[in-house]
Amino acid sequence: MSKNILITGGAGFIGCHVVKLFVNRYPAYKIVNLDCLTYAGNLENLKDIEHAENYFFEKVNILNAEELMRVFEQYQITDVIHLAAESHVDRSISDPLAFVQTNVIGTVNLLNVCKQIWQSLEQHLFYHISTDEVYGSLGESGYFLETTPYDPQSPYSASKASSDHFVRAYTNTYGMNTVISNCSNNYGPNQFPEKLIPLCIHNIRNNKPLPIYGKGENIRDWLFVEDHAKAIDLIFHRGKSGETYNIGGFNEWKNIDIVRLICDKMDEKLGRAAGTSKQLITFVKDRAGHDMRYAIDAHKIKQELGWEPSLQFEEGISKTIDWYMEHEAWLNNVTSGSYQKYYEEHYGK
Ligand code: NAD
Ligand code: TYD
Repeated sequence: MSKNILITGGAGFIGCHVVKLFVNRYPAYKIVNLDCLTYAGNLENLKDIEHAENYFFEKVNILNAEELMRVFEQYQITDVIHLAAESHVDRSISDPLAFVQTNVIGTVNLLNVCKQIWQSLEQHLFYHISTDEVYGSLGESGYFLETTPYDPQSPYSASKASSDHFVRAYTNTYGMNTVISNCSNNYGPNQFPEKLIPLCIHNIRNNKPLPIYGKGENIRDWLFVEDHAKAIDLIFHRGKSGETYNIGGFNEWKNIDIVRLICDKMDEKLGRAAGTSKQLITFVKDRAGHDMRYAIDAHKIKQELGWEPSLQFEEGISKTIDWYMEHEAWLNNVTSGSYQKYYEEHYGK
């Protein structure tokens, strides 16, 4: 069946991989990427598919109900995959209101537009992309299950938890057909270099310090971004309405060990003497309220939908480093800010 899918946040890190996968795999679908292009939105991420016949871009803020209505009507939107968000924990600590605006109010605004436009709600799907951070912080043992009570600790995770609750409230109250997935930390090409892995790759390249918060003992469960996009595809097509799916890599790493691994791999790739990059490691003041450990139990999505991560971490990290080294222009445009001119230059507005 043909669908006209609105993907929000499609110019961001995960969104661009989801947009590319859907545009390439489903030529019969119309894919509308709606993104207001904050600092995290980069249309250069979509160069490969920007001229595809089934791809459309709309520079719109999810807080703007009038513009959302126009887009829904213009493209006869049948389904939504909602990724647009403020996504960086450190920024949420310095500016929590920005996270409430986009992640909470923006999501409710979008839900409201769907409710107003879609005549029979059961024929449409609102798919919310969320994070494992809503479950809080783990100690040394245990995993996040879909049934784990929410216990968000940072302004970012509190805003994502709130938006998840609103999505469920729209199902319960108005009968909206929704699904939510909560994923662990993603890494891979196109990630903005404020997040740990691309930041380290960028800084090693430029011989700059690698800031490690606290002792570097905090643990994250890492997943290659293309594996996340494949999981989103499966859930979109085969997930059960009203359900939640946890997505994770069964791949826990202490921050310091990841940074050491990246240092070793980069020394090799850059032809530097072994141990050179590790000298850049600099322990800095810990993040306020820093969650200790995240770990996802991803058995449900494996058993029900047959999804499993396809890439081993060391291979994924190598692939990621290679991508950043081969896309120096992308990184330079991001760090210089010139990526923000792409819209005016290519869309002429
Ligand atoms: P990102 O910060 O790279 O991209 C977010 C995108 O949303 C950007 O293109 C930005 O321009 C857009 N956006 C922000 N505010 C907007 C607004 N008000 N209106 C329209 N567009 C807006 O984020 P990401 O890392 O790609 O994350 C995407 C989604 O996945 C988020 O909802 C995030 O919470 C979730 N998530 C991320 C991770 C991760 O490791 N990065 C893990 C699990 C879940
Ligand atoms: P990050 O990539 O910001 O993702 P999240 O906070 O959503 O998990 O951070 C990953 C881990 O790395 C987290 O424990 C914080 C830590 N970190 C550092 O030690 N130094 C840094 O410069 C950054 C950005 C993160």
